Amino acid sequence: MKGKMKAYLLLQALLAYCMCPVSSLDVLLVSAPFPGHANCLLAIGEELVVRGHNVTFSSLDNWVNLRHKSTERGMRYLSAGKQAVTQAEWNNIISKRASLQGFFSKNPLAIIEELRLLDQSRPLSGIDEIAKYFMNINLQQWDIIVTEHYLTHRIPCIAKSRNVTVVMTSMTYFSNESPPWPFPSYESAYSDNLGFKERGFIVIMFFINRFFALANSFRTSFDKFSCKETFKYPVELGWEVPYIITTVLGLEYPRTISPLTTYVGPVLSQALLNQHLLPVDLNDWLRNKNNKSVIYISMGSQLSLSDKMAQEIINGISDTDYHVIWSVGDINKDIILSIDSSRYYTSSWIPQLTLLQHSSISMAILHGGSNGIHESLYFGIPIIVIPGMGDQFDWAVRVSDAGVGLQLLRHEVTSRGLRDSIRRIDNDGYHKRAEKMSVLMKRGGGIKRAAELVEFYGTYGYDHLIPGPIKYKWNWIQYYNVDVHIVLLVGLVAIVMILKRSCKCCTSKKTKIKQI
Ligand SMILES: *[C@@H]1O[C@H](CO)[C@@H](O)[C@H](O)[C@H]1NC(C)=O
Ligand SMILES: *[C@@H]1O[C@H](CO)[C@@H](O)[C@H](O)[C@H]1NC(C)=O
Ligand SMILES: *[C@@H]1O[C@H](CO)[C@@H](O)[C@H](O)[C@H]1NC(C)=O
Repeated sequence: MKGKMKAYLLLQALLAYCMCPVSSLDVLLVSAPFPGHANCLLAIGEELVVRGHNVTFSSLDNWVNLRHKSTERGMRYLSAGKQAVTQAEWNNIISKRASLQGFFSKNPLAIIEELRLLDQSRPLSGIDEIAKYFMNINLQQWDIIVTEHYLTHRIPCIAKSRNVTVVMTSMTYFSNESPPWPFPSYESAYSDNLGFKERGFIVIMFFINRFFALANSFRTSFDKFSCKETFKYPVELGWEVPYIITTVLGLEYPRTISPLTTYVGPVLSQALLNQHLLPVDLNDWLRNKNNKSVIYISMGSQLSLSDKMAQEIINGISDTDYHVIWSVGDINKDIILSIDSSRYYTSSWIPQLTLLQHSSISMAILHGGSNGIHESLYFGIPIIVIPGMGDQFDWAVRVSDAGVGLQLLRHEVTSRGLRDSIRRIDNDGYHKRAEKMSVLMKRGGGIKRAAELVEFYGTYGYDHLIPGPIKYKWNWIQYYNVDVHIVLLVGLVAIVMILKRSCKCCTSKKTKIKQI
């Protein structure tokens, strides 16, 4: 008995020595039930489990099956309810939004319609269900809660009102505030070289966004989630709670950030990164391919590719020497059957992260979802982006500004447009710049840095990083320094008036003297 105990203690001490610089934390991860939102939290959760923490993942039950995805990575799953819409209904909303090309169109009617759809889809997304669930349970059982930007006006407010440490994550610096200069607003598809018209549009978008945020907050009754009580200003990401951003400067445009904001680069699942096995038939197909001789195509699963566009892509590639691996969503089966299988490998499921590391891959053709863009550039693969909706346009512009790929708008996807883009990628230094981007991304620290930040905030908090106006609860007059400016202005006017009057006196005296 005693010997067993000793061995057990020794093992515990060893384990503590090896892997636990901080003591084990109870961590809660809360995500909206969609892959684009959950992937980053799943990867962070996986790393936290490896580091010996007790991790619980929570979302709604739906077709994405986050219960399976989190438990297979060693987390507990806590269901916050069931998604009310079906996958078909949700995809229908997405296609409607895509067909509007809202913000990108710069057509005011389309923008208002897109904002209306966005507003309509928000309740269907189930984020209020998630918020309601967490309003009614004891949050203090967790040392730290990590959530993502879709839940910005929900989870941080609830957590703060219960005094539980909370951290946000997102793929982009998701903020419309951008002191002190105008910054390309989210989904505007603007580059950071802004002319007068663009800056004007950004200001107008700022007010429109504020209006919708306000309308939304009244409808969901702002106070219900305690945002008003716990946040001095509208929840601006990175000013009141830490903000972990999973991209890098160099792809994202540089801007001023708060002390609570950290860019960590792509957070990719370590387990998937270490997984080098491809499906057997894909591996066989790749066996006799040369290095850098294959194009990888993935146009996402939410928006279907039109037959015409698929055909243009096939025709464009037929003029080159490239082979193709195509992750096909719901593209027309006849088109797939008509293509030459020695040149094309098609499948509805391809382990993207493993494939992108393969030496045969030369470039990718993607729809511009942030996950795909980051995974591709992480391995130095340049991209032709064919954006369809929302922030895909933003990423397309960033990719092309960074010189690591090209943007092809849907109407520009002709066989000739595609062939020319492939040639440009090969001849104009894109591979080299993509390799540099890969270095930037790997230096971000990724999953390890993100997990370390969660451990640090969970153990020590982040009060020391909160700026004065927020810590001391300044009102807006103090925040914008309005009182000081008014006093200075009044003082200046007074001085000018005094000077003017004394000058008048001088001149009138002088004239008097002359008259004498
Ligand atoms: C892990 O967390 C869950 C949920 O917070 C809790 O019920 C459980 O007791 C914890 N387990 C350990 C070993 O601390
Ligand atoms: C949270 O902390 C504040 C200040 O320390 C305290 O006044 C408040 O009662 C606490 N709230 C809860 C729910 O513990
Ligand atoms: C392909 O690339 C790998 C590693 O990048 C290298 O080891 C190998 O020699 C290359 N093969 C050819 C045929 O160039």
